[in-house]
Amino acid sequence: MNFEERYSEDALKQNGIKPFDGVLKVIWRSPSNIALVKYWGKRNFQIPENPSVSFTLRNSFTETEIEYHCKKEKGVSFEFYFEGSENRGFGERVGKYLSVLSRFFPFLDNLHLKIMSKNSFPHSSGIASSASAMSALALCICSIEKQMFGTLQDENEFLQKASFMARLGSGSAARSVWPGFVVWGKTKTLTGSSDEVAIPLPVKTDNVFYGLKDAILITSPEKKKISSSAGHRLMEKHPFAEARYKQANENIELLVGALQKGDKNMFVEVVENEALTLHSLMMSSNPGFTLMNEKTWKIIDEIRNYRETTGRFIAFTLDAGPNVHLLYLEKDKDEILKFIEQKLIVFCDNGRWIDDGINL
Ligand code: DP6
Repeated sequence: MNFEERYSEDALKQNGIKPFDGVLKVIWRSPSNIALVKYWGKRNFQIPENPSVSFTLRNSFTETEIEYHCKKEKGVSFEFYFEGSENRGFGERVGKYLSVLSRFFPFLDNLHLKIMSKNSFPHSSGIASSASAMSALALCICSIEKQMFGTLQDENEFLQKASFMARLGSGSAARSVWPGFVVWGKTKTLTGSSDEVAIPLPVKTDNVFYGLKDAILITSPEKKKISSSAGHRLMEKHPFAEARYKQANENIELLVGALQKGDKNMFVEVVENEALTLHSLMMSSNPGFTLMNEKTWKIIDEIRNYRETTGRFIAFTLDAGPNVHLLYLEKDKDEILKFIEQKLIVFCDNGRWIDDGINL
């Protein structure tokens, strides 16, 4: 039985709740994550065309609180507040998401939800928030199931279901429910990997990567010009699609090997190749689009120069936007902070960057 069948079966057992008085509450904090091997291209309903590996961040998170009560009329009903005020734009996406979830959580039809969400990072920083937002929401809905039915007591089972549900809201969100390194998407390299849920990387990684830090250099506060969903769709007719999916599988193998062996050079090679491949795919799709800006390029050049002259471990990666994620090791923090101050901060919007790192 696959996860979808399993959760559909759960839903049959949870048809109808015992009415209760008053208001109950759940709350979750869920971090964002940064992919090292990228998810770009999907099919059917939120099934990735290739496996991806990420690490979960510590400081960039969404906190979501849901107050809920019983109601008589049937149907999904909610209000959505972002950072204290009602937000129609986000609310629309949340509404669509809840309708999708109601298939797996029929009790949602009997509840009214007051959803209050806020981010630890500035909204205008342009950093991707769908992973943290959707995973926080999925975790909350699983907690409601747990409160209503006493199910999902086992932590692993709970997080697995939350990952499945988060995926339906945003693919990358499936990875955010787990700490550390995470894989989503089936690959022969990793036992237990699945297209339906993300899992913690099932191999022992070398200690050196436990100190991974991520300085998120904000080059532009603007909202994305094109949504990730639209970008994924352009992969359907992309002339390089097949080669890309093959490359991603190979890169997973190389990256996992590097993580196991503590091979920093291989890590840099794969991670930077993935970042530039992602943006090359965007530029070469039809219509093509560019998310990087001139500051993104300047920062990349500086990072390459710094690595060449110091020999220090440092790497860049990008998500679907112009901001640069500078990866380095905690033990080099003082040196890297100097480098950021001296060479990179001039390219950051109002000198802004976010000090983040792996959440183990
Ligand atoms: C470039 O997860 O935002 O960040 O499933 O349509 O919500 P949807 O897409 P999304 O895509 C993320 C793409 C990426 C790479 C990655 O995180 O793996």
